[in-house]
Amino acid sequence: MKGSLFAGTAALVLIASGAFAQDQAGREEYMIACAGCHGESAMGDGPLARVLNIATPDLTHMAASSADGEFPFQYAVWMIDGRNVIRAHGAEMPVWGNRFQASATSERGESAEMIARGRILSLVYYLEAIQQ
Ligand code: HEC
Repeated sequence: MKGSLFAGTAALVLIASGAFAQDQAGREEYMIACAGCHGESAMGDGPLARVLNIATPDLTHMAASSADGEFPFQYAVWMIDGRNVIRAHGAEMPVWGNRFQASATSERGESAEMIARGRILSLVYYLEAIQQ
């Protein structure tokens, strides 16, 4: 009993620190690639938002404004990736899937697709962590 309680606690600590590591990588990526439009606060108020033709969405209320109150994980992946969604005419959001894939370099044999998906996922974990 004591042993399993300890194992459970250790697992929780591991999960928590794993989540932190992902959020940190996602945060760095976010500040470089996304904050210009969506804002450092992710509230849609970046310096570039003003020059776009359409409103830049607030990314901190994606859970609160979804039908079931849950963070729309799959939707966020699709929107960031952009390769499998049909964009409305005049959409401004860059297709990150293509960009991340094109800029991927690996010395250990990961494919460009693996690297692009990892970057997209770390961004989604970050967005999930900053929901209000
Ligand atoms: C050039 C400005 C710009 C940049 C840079 C940008 N976005 Fe966007 N983003 C938008 C706009 C405008 C929309 C609204 C939909 C559209 O135009 O496609 C949007 C939509 C979204 C959505 C859907 C939000 C919703 O509630 O429907 C997500 C998620 C998102 N962006 C995440 C990101 C992430 C993560 C990055 C960085 C990798 C990023 N965006 C970079 C302009 C930008």
